[in-house]
Amino acid sequence: MANVIYHLPDGSIETVDVPTGQSVMDGSVRNNLPGIVAECGGSCSCATCHVYLDDAANALFDPPSDEEAELMEFLEGAQPNSRLSCQLIIAGHGDVHVQVADSSS
Ligand code: FES
Repeated sequence: MANVIYHLPDGSIETVDVPTGQSVMDGSVRNNLPGIVAECGGSCSCATCHVYLDDAANALFDPPSDEEAELMEFLEGAQPNSRLSCQLIIAGHGDVHVQVADSSS
């Protein structure tokens, strides 16, 4: 279980307890937070679950798979610290800050 702190596109902040084994995307969708649409339901094919990670958060997750990296190549607004939140699986405890890109526009 980790506390995922979602910094939302409108500047607000929401904190959600996300169980080990679930993704950062799951925590957002289960709580109807704005920004993460997750059209494909987490199968790494839609890129509507875009977030940015700071260095501390980045260190908590495995690097992107080839599949994720390829999807992000064509993603508008992608930056070097971009990730797809359905691929960010919670494996430990503590706080995880994510900046949510607005995938709904
Ligand atoms: S939910 Fe579709 S790629 Fe993440």
